[in-house]
Amino acid sequence: MEIVITDRPEVIAADIIESYARAGKTLGLATGSTPVKTYQELIRRHREEGLSFAECRAFLLDEYVGLPREHEQSYYRTIRREFTDAVDIDDALVASPDGTSTDPLTAGASYDAAIRNAGGIDLQLLGIGSDGHIGFNEPGSSLASRTRLKTLHPQTIRDNARFFDGDEDQVPRHVLTQGLGTILEAGHLLLIATGAGKQEAVTALVEGPVAAWCPASVLQLHPHATVVLDAAAAAGLKNREYYRFALANKPARQGF
Ligand code: PGA
Repeated sequence: MEIVITDRPEVIAADIIESYARAGKTLGLATGSTPVKTYQELIRRHREEGLSFAECRAFLLDEYVGLPREHEQSYYRTIRREFTDAVDIDDALVASPDGTSTDPLTAGASYDAAIRNAGGIDLQLLGIGSDGHIGFNEPGSSLASRTRLKTLHPQTIRDNARFFDGDEDQVPRHVLTQGLGTILEAGHLLLIATGAGKQEAVTALVEGPVAAWCPASVLQLHPHATVVLDAAAAAGLKNREYYRFALANKPARQGF
């Protein structure tokens, strides 16, 4: 794994995503608060520097079950509001698991098939939950899991209530999420974590054992994983001589 500690995670992440966008690759997108700044940086590059996503297609990581697509908090809407509507990617090529399916038990397999039929995901962007989840693969998820129906952990419901007027009762209980095995099939994994709230999960991801108890630790099995951290998220890491520090005075686009 490549670990990058930087005061501008969104610039490092945008540099990596830009290189895939320029090659017209298939992007795996994530929602949540972490990637928002990265999306803003990509939108800025689209507007000011002509960065185009016209040759790209995208697959979302996960989706709530039971929320209408047009609900403001569905991930279908969220990714459009926060990123894809502001760039030139073809909206018809921004795919997400079908949380409105009448058969959520088979919707996961259909999504995996759609990813496969598109030739797979080249770069998958990831956040990490405070409990170590990626996508909605909560602790205990099979490291070989496929896209499937999951029940949210109470901690994730508490974490996400902020998007639902602070009301836990409004947070859907079920989701469709790419499985850990699905995520591992992407060509390159790019995980961003910021803030002290992620410190424990990041330490388990990077320096802990590979274990279903920290689903994000599955990144250790991937041949090309990049973990971009700010100082607060990285503060619990011990083996610092192995990590790369992207300093503020270093040219931002060097090295990728
Ligand atoms: P956050 O969520 O980016 O809103 O912190 C990350 C996650 O739960 O995967």
